Amino acid sequence: MKVDGKPMRSIWVEPDGNAVGIIDQTKLPHRFETLRLTSLAEAAHAIRSMQTRGAPLIGATAAYGIALALRADPSDTALEQAYATLLATRPTAINLRWALDEMMAAVRNQPREARVAAAFRRAGEIADEDVAINAAIGRHGLALIEAIAATKPKGERVNVLTHCNAGWLATVDWGTATAPIYMAHDKGIPVHVWVDETRPRNQGAALTAWELGHHGVPHTVIPDNTGGHLMQHGRVDLAIVGTDRVTAQGDVCNKIGTYLKALAARDNDVPFYVALPSPTIDFTVDDGVAEIPIEERSAEEVTRMTGRTEDGRTETIEVVAPGSPVANYGFDVTPARLVTGLITERGVLPATREGLAAAFPERASSGRG
Ligand code: MRU
Repeated sequence: MKVDGKPMRSIWVEPDGNAVGIIDQTKLPHRFETLRLTSLAEAAHAIRSMQTRGAPLIGATAAYGIALALRADPSDTALEQAYATLLATRPTAINLRWALDEMMAAVRNQPREARVAAAFRRAGEIADEDVAINAAIGRHGLALIEAIAATKPKGERVNVLTHCNAGWLATVDWGTATAPIYMAHDKGIPVHVWVDETRPRNQGAALTAWELGHHGVPHTVIPDNTGGHLMQHGRVDLAIVGTDRVTAQGDVCNKIGTYLKALAARDNDVPFYVALPSPTIDFTVDDGVAEIPIEERSAEEVTRMTGRTEDGRTETIEVVAPGSPVANYGFDVTPARLVTGLITERGVLPATREGLAAAFPERASSGRG
């Protein structure tokens, strides 16, 4: 996508070849800053601290993290340590493990002197594949938006609700949930996005709103609890969200609060779609509620908020009664029964074991068996 008219991805190899570049997402929306990652430690820190984030981008960053680690030390021991270090950065997004396994397969059997080149090559492919996958998701999702637009009087907006940031900042390009939206907008379909702010880290208010604004897509930021009210009043035509892990039976794990939106959507007959690239499917897991590890992050993410003051300074303030205990679960699971469809690179699928297995037989067969 474009930033100030310049085409940009969310991760790249720097022109000098010595570092991997990322956008520091902790600085958005008020400051656009990029970072150079030069080591395994910096790549792991970037994922852990959420300078870079979103399931597909976590995977791509980890892939480059392996390449950076091998550049310092191409031994088997270093490779295994890098795998373990990166895998421990965030527990929920399965794209992380998928990308690390891909990297292992690409470099493990290479002689030491060939490992760095092989690692950078495979990491680059993973990034390019993500872009192609998201473009395909966009085309399949676009058809859904077009079908709704066709039922409305000409010129009337299609209202899409989204949660968190499953935009291009969360992937290498296009985004998953946002790809159909960008394509619809670019095609001249009047589309408007309700952007859940997504407390506690505000990925919606800070990142999705920033992205959509830069692309000129009409949108409105809403406090997290607003979606149900809008649905009751017929002001949401469909919801499209991203996901960090989809199980073999079609359960969907995504940013905390997604489940409540799915419940509200069901009660109001609003279609609830989930957009995902196939590396987000975990065929080794069936019951998402019971089996997916849910990340718990620090209390400070809830007790504090950081923002820009009127005179342009960045300040962090306390917003919770001092001393009150806090819980900060990063994700929740929406059972498959609440999902209208899964928008994948191979089409829009029913959120069922049969639907997923038929579309991705080569991945399904390596599942639990
Ligand atoms: O904690 P985050 O910001 O990494 O969570 C991101 C999400 O929940 C996204 O919806 C998900 O990773 C899909 S990104 C295409």
